[in-house]
Amino acid sequence: MTFTAKNLERAHAIIAQYPDPHSAILPLAHVAQDQDGWLTNEAMAEIAELVGTSSADVQGVCSFYTMYKRRPCGKLVVSVCTNVTCLVVGGPEVLHHLEARYGADDDVFVEEVECLAACGNAPAMQVNYEYHEHLTPEMAAAIVDDYKSGVLHARGVSGGSK
Ligand code: FES
Repeated sequence: MTFTAKNLERAHAIIAQYPDPHSAILPLAHVAQDQDGWLTNEAMAEIAELVGTSSADVQGVCSFYTMYKRRPCGKLVVSVCTNVTCLVVGGPEVLHHLEARYGADDDVFVEEVECLAACGNAPAMQVNYEYHEHLTPEMAAAIVDDYKSGVLHARGVSGGSK
């Protein structure tokens, strides 16, 4: 059993919201990822069983979306935009600063992402899908440090509650 008893209850409640249980794959993957910190093969197998499909089907659906992490990514997923607008106002510098600072930190997973739709306030990043904008490299690191120390409260790694 992969889901905790509480999350298994949530999973059944989510499935009941859809006429076709197959439609619950994505929300169930969020629950699993928030529980475990990443989307494990065991979780996808359990989701498949719950919705009445194959593990390969669940893997096929989930592998399409970059927000589902297929390896451990720690407590904080830091997504830094380096797309066009962020590129010209310091996004890559933010990314490189955070990669250097947290590269050996198992709690922090720094990733480069495409446009976060916050171009008007570039450069932008998300920490567990919470937006932070108008960044400098130093500001970005201070924000991540605040999450690490608990000054800022991080949502689950899928952006939901745990
Ligand atoms: S280009 Fe970075 S948020 Fe749009």
